[in-house]
Amino acid sequence: MEFSEVNGLLHGGDYNADQWLDRPEILKEDIQLMKKAGVNVVTLGIFSWASLEPEEGVFTFEWLDQIMDSMYENGIYVILATPSAGKPPWMAKKYPEIMQTDRARVRHLYGRRKTQCNSSKVYQEKVRIIDEKLAARYAHHPALLMWHISNEVSGECHCSDCQENFRKWLKNKYGTIDNLNKQYCSKFWSHTYNDWSEIESPAPHGESAVHGLMLDYKRFSSDMLIRFVKMELDIVKKYNPDIPVTTNMYDVNCEVNYNRLADILDVTSWDSYPLWHCGTDKKSEWKKAVEAAFHFDFCRSLKHAPFVLMESTTSTNNHFEISKLKRPGMHMLSSMQAVACGSDSVMYFQWRQSLGAYEKFHSAVVSHNGSEDTRVFHDVVEVGEKVRSLFFIKNTKTWSDVAIIYDWENMRALYEQKNLRNHNQEYDVIMYEHYEAILKNYVSVDIIDQSADFSKYKLIIAPMLYMFKTGTQEKIKNYVEQGGNFVMTYYSGIVNENDLCFECWSPYGLNDVFGVKSEEIDSLCDDEYNQFTYNGKVYKAKFYCDLLNVCGAEVLSKYECDFYAGRPVLTKNNYKQGMAYYIACRSEKDFLYDFYHTLIDETGIRRIIDSPYVDSVMVKERADEESRYVFYMNFSVEQRTICGIQLAGYEVQLKKEKRILEK
Ligand code: GAL
Repeated sequence: MEFSEVNGLLHGGDYNADQWLDRPEILKEDIQLMKKAGVNVVTLGIFSWASLEPEEGVFTFEWLDQIMDSMYENGIYVILATPSAGKPPWMAKKYPEIMQTDRARVRHLYGRRKTQCNSSKVYQEKVRIIDEKLAARYAHHPALLMWHISNEVSGECHCSDCQENFRKWLKNKYGTIDNLNKQYCSKFWSHTYNDWSEIESPAPHGESAVHGLMLDYKRFSSDMLIRFVKMELDIVKKYNPDIPVTTNMYDVNCEVNYNRLADILDVTSWDSYPLWHCGTDKKSEWKKAVEAAFHFDFCRSLKHAPFVLMESTTSTNNHFEISKLKRPGMHMLSSMQAVACGSDSVMYFQWRQSLGAYEKFHSAVVSHNGSEDTRVFHDVVEVGEKVRSLFFIKNTKTWSDVAIIYDWENMRALYEQKNLRNHNQEYDVIMYEHYEAILKNYVSVDIIDQSADFSKYKLIIAPMLYMFKTGTQEKIKNYVEQGGNFVMTYYSGIVNENDLCFECWSPYGLNDVFGVKSEEIDSLCDDEYNQFTYNGKVYKAKFYCDLLNVCGAEVLSKYECDFYAGRPVLTKNNYKQGMAYYIACRSEKDFLYDFYHTLIDETGIRRIIDSPYVDSVMVKERADEESRYVFYMNFSVEQRTICGIQLAGYEVQLKKEKRILEK
């Protein structure tokens, strides 16, 4: 059975069956409850290494055989995990060198999870052995739907092997030590390296000032984690190349460059944990909804294909600072939001609540009382029914004319550099601001990085694209030249991919395209602001203000205060067939909404619906060749009306329409 062959969407979640092997009646009961909840898939074995190899070289697969068989007999598919995110204690005792060494050069003791060095030869060998056994045994099992490699891969290590590997990685990248010195500007504070062996990874009591090196260590660590996933993926594929492989992602600001990780996966998957209902601000629900939608759109855009919502809560998440219950209606709404953004599943962490340890109070479908007569179980049943009824959504696509560039390497570089508001640069928040403005205009949007194909979009937005990798300026130029609309903001095109400053007016290589030359940038304190007028409305300029010189652009608005009053804050430049816009300051969110509203009208970008923004209502669309499926979602507790549709508090409605194909 392949993922693509399953009829309809998936509904299920993490099933830690090995916690109840001494309670066969519970395992039996689980099957009955799963059927009642409309579960058609479970994820097995994520943290089961100790149950599969209780002692070194002693394997106990019989229990998993039984669970896999019983799932199959009951029409429930299995996403089978490799157990590499949680190792058994015997391993760390016998091979202490597998444990992670942190930045302070302290080797960790056994404990928690994902605390190993994924590059350790011994660890890799142990993983190889268990993965080979799993794959040999289950790769052709009729219940197997997909492989789930490890869990939320992450972890940076600084052991002596990692130091050596890092030096090799650098040698491979820079070729000569002279070249590295040049790119790191290492004469600064007398850091010139004579030999690769002098290089040490970043440390709180060591190096933290050579930004190129800080950034390279992040890239190196990401590469090592991806290489580790690839090692596992190759093993399981060897036994059956037809079974798709995924690994669950969870945070855009994490240690892995997901755009590169996605390159090796068949399917992307996401773990979504917004903290709903927190904050007295009535808009806090909407804010969480925007962030969740951004992550889903990001995950879908990685492969421009439907993804799997691998984990979500049924109610509380006990990892958070506060364990809030999901309010009535929110479980359906948040589950449907993932589907609306491109997920072909609704899945949970976890099926049954553990009786002890760290997550014993994390919500689950079945809680400690074991009853099906709970509010949460009823919510899950309802979502299960909905998911089953939406079988036609599977494999439908999202067509976006607009893309926002969120670039992992750019983010890493921005967070290391010293400038602007050093402790609060908010690259992610700035992303959400632009994203929200597009969302509120009811337009579909993809989230891409600077290596993506630009040609399919009518509008590309690049907030704070501080780093231009080799060729990025050419790509942008060609894109605009051929008729694209490009929006660039303050603090863009400042450094190359090694965080070395370009010797030019920024944005590098694009002064003719944008018709502006940025000279300096001012950072404002929290309570300060400048102001500008656009289309007759006055807006605040906050946090960052680029001081531009015009070299051909039309000035749409100017700063009105301070010594740079009269200098441009918003410009537009017609370059060849296209249009290049420059927003020089971080603004109030209202400005972004109004600006993009006009731009969307002017460029003829298709809106999902033709409506002004209705407070807290999100609209998303999926489509196939004939039909489009429009999800109307109300993230407010109060009733809303949009396009004549009445939505009760937290209600979601789906409307099917004939699709009119654009040219
Ligand atoms: C995820 C993780 C799960 C579980 C969950 C709790 O990040 O993959 O194993 O810990 O968080 O919210």
